[in-house]
Formats: sequence, structure tokens, C-alpha cells
Amino acid sequence: MKKVVIYYFSGTGNTWWLAEELKKLLIIKNTTAVAYSIEGVTAEQVPQQLKNADHIVIGFPVYGSTAPKLMQEFIKELPMASNHQTATVFGTQALASGDTAYFIGRRLAEKGYKLMQTLHFRMMNNLHLPMFRFYPPKNDHRTIALHRKCLPKLDKLATAISKDQRQIRGKYTLGIILGKLQRSHMDAMIEKVSKHFDVSTEACVHCNKCIRICPTQNIMAVNGTYAFGANCNACLRCYSQCPQNAILIGAASADAEKYPRYRGPQEDFNPFKLIKP
Ligand SMILES: Cc1cc2nc3c(=O)[nH]c(=O)nc-3n(C[C@H](O)[C@H](O)[C@H](O)COP(=O)(O)O)c2cc1C
Repeated sequence: MKKVVIYYFSGTGNTWWLAEELKKLLIIKNTTAVAYSIEGVTAEQVPQQLKNADHIVIGFPVYGSTAPKLMQEFIKELPMASNHQTATVFGTQALASGDTAYFIGRRLAEKGYKLMQTLHFRMMNNLHLPMFRFYPPKNDHRTIALHRKCLPKLDKLATAISKDQRQIRGKYTLGIILGKLQRSHMDAMIEKVSKHFDVSTEACVHCNKCIRICPTQNIMAVNGTYAFGANCNACLRCYSQCPQNAILIGAASADAEKYPRYRGPQEDFNPFKLIKP
């Protein structure tokens, strides 16, 4: 039986949802599939998990035609492929992804994994800030409608993985040019966003959820308020999951009606699922 290992990073839940659905579909299609949030595994565990794997899947949210830094670092540390291991890369995105999955897929190919599938899935947007106004996220049936649209494509992906069918998306000239352009701005954009983090002292109830769920341990309690370090990935998990909407990115985001937070792919989404137990 084919053994598939899925590794994903998810800031606000979309990629987690997709990775878990893919795992279920792969199991239905007679493969052995496991899914890990990269925040929940240690560097020592990964080579063991991959030892007898036939296929590796990497999933992440698209950030300006590339992967979040945490995922890029995870891929750098991955062991070289052994025994003709194959790979899938998928990105979740709100609108446009260019060549993202193919671009990241090439990093896996450099490690010896045979790149078989690269693709993108449209899901709910989580990025709507005073300095980056994409469309506002919707925490209602529209999120579920996007999921429904993803499922047939996800089913095809599971079939392609189980039957070794090649399915490469994002490898076209315009996509590659747009991808390059977007990537060249991404570090500056993340730095800009991360400099605007603040906490509303009126709204905050000091539950410390933000500290506990930050994937880079970038938030610290200092003198009765919070400080943000220099290691932000701009995943927006703290911003989206604060029960009081007390995390601000730009003063105008205090208006949570104008800047609604994305609460995740389903009502009972729990961000603690993504981190180390
Ligand atoms: C910093 C940042 C950059 C983003 N850049 C893009 C983008 O270039 N194109 C796009 O379609 N969506 C973009 N998005 C939206 C997310 O990719 C999308 O909502 C994704 O499904 C979120 O996945 P997650 O919930 O697993 O974190 C961006 C989101 C963030 C936070």
C-alpha cells in the first residue's frame, strides 16, 4: 500500500482543513496517509516519518506567490529523497497564486523528490488590513461554499497521487513572471505588516491566547501589555483568533466591522490543533 506523508503549515485554518480532507480521501483510495502540522513535529521526527514513505505532500497558504517563511525553512531542512520518493505541493489562496506551488515544488525537486503534482485551491481570504485591503473575509456559508468547490479538485488530486498521475499547475510564462514580481515584494510586505502589530489595552482581557498560538513564539507579555518580536510570519493567527479583537494591525483595525477577522474554515475551528501538544 502506498504510504503518503502530508506536512502543512496553516496560519488561520484553511490549509489545515484541506490537508485533513486530502488525508481522508487518500485513505478512501487505499493509501496509508498521515498529516502533520509542521509546528507539531520536531526536526528529529521528520526523517523517521519519511523513512518508508513513497510520497510527500507539502501544503501552505500562498503569501505573495511564495510559502510562509516557516514552511520554506522546513523544506530546507527536509532530508534528501530516497528510493524514488515523489511529491505534491499545494497552496491555498484567496484570489491569485501564479506559479507558487510549482516554484516551491522545484525546491523539493532539488532535494531529489520527483515532482508529480502542483496545484492551488481557492479558499476564504484571511488578509484584509488597513494597509492591504483584499476583500473582507466572510465567516458564514460563503466559506463552506468555497470548501464545496474545492472537494472535486481535491478528489482528483487524491486519485492522481494514488495512481501516480502527473498534474502540474502554475508552470506557465505569465504565472512565472507574476510570481517573480510578487515574491520580490514579499519580505518587505511582511516586515511592513509586522511593524504595525499592537494590542488595544481597552479590549484585551490578558487571556494570553495570542502568546500560546503564535507559531514563531513572537509575542511576549511585558509590563501588563504585549510586545511583538522580529520573527513574525504575518500568518495573522493571533489577529484572527483573539476573542476580543484586541490585536490590531494598524489603528483602523480596531473597527472590527470594517476589518472583520477570519475565524477559520469551520465554526469549531481550534487553532490549538496546529501547535505542539
Ligand atoms: C501575508 C499574507 C499574504 C497573502 N498573499 C496572498 C496572495 O498573494 N494571493 C492570494 O490569493 N491570497 C493571499 N493571502 C490569503 C491566504 O493565502 C489565504 O486566505 C489562505 O487560504 C490562508 O490559509 P491559512 O488559513 O491556512 O493560513 C495572503 C494572506 C496573508 C496572511
